Amino acid sequence: MRIMIVNGPNLNLTGTREPRIYGSDSLGAINSELKEEFVGISFEFFQTNSEGALIDKIQSLEGSGFDGAILNAGALSHYSYSLRDAIAAVSKPVVEVHLSQVFAREEFRRKSVISDACKGTITGFGKYSYFAAVYALTRLLTK
Ligand code: DQA
Repeated sequence: MRIMIVNGPNLNLTGTREPRIYGSDSLGAINSELKEEFVGISFEFFQTNSEGALIDKIQSLEGSGFDGAILNAGALSHYSYSLRDAIAAVSKPVVEVHLSQVFAREEFRRKSVISDACKGTITGFGKYSYFAAVYALTRLLTK
């Protein structure tokens, strides 16, 4: 099983940015924990602050050896129709994740324009949102 873990704008600052909201673990630490937890899975970890690079990465899923992706698109989740269309264009499942409970935050965060193109959404469990997403996706794919 090969899974991409894809993070968008500002997620490189996880651990130091608003730790009360996003937690105090760095993205690197979260990625290491995922590797330790899911030893049988081959991961690729990717982070970018650029919308275009994020779209290119999602597009690259098609025809790749990857079985699917876990995506935290950051604020792009709330307004990027281009990213939503890229997710819809690929046949591999993409799971939307958020560290914070976006439904309990500002109004603009309560809407995601990518959710309908994603297999599912996990939000509000801090770093464990990623763990839950990997668990759910791999169980779904091996069923
Ligand atoms: C986020 C939530 C978004 O609203 C925000 O813009 C982020 C992080 C989260 O993981 O909770 O950058 O995706």
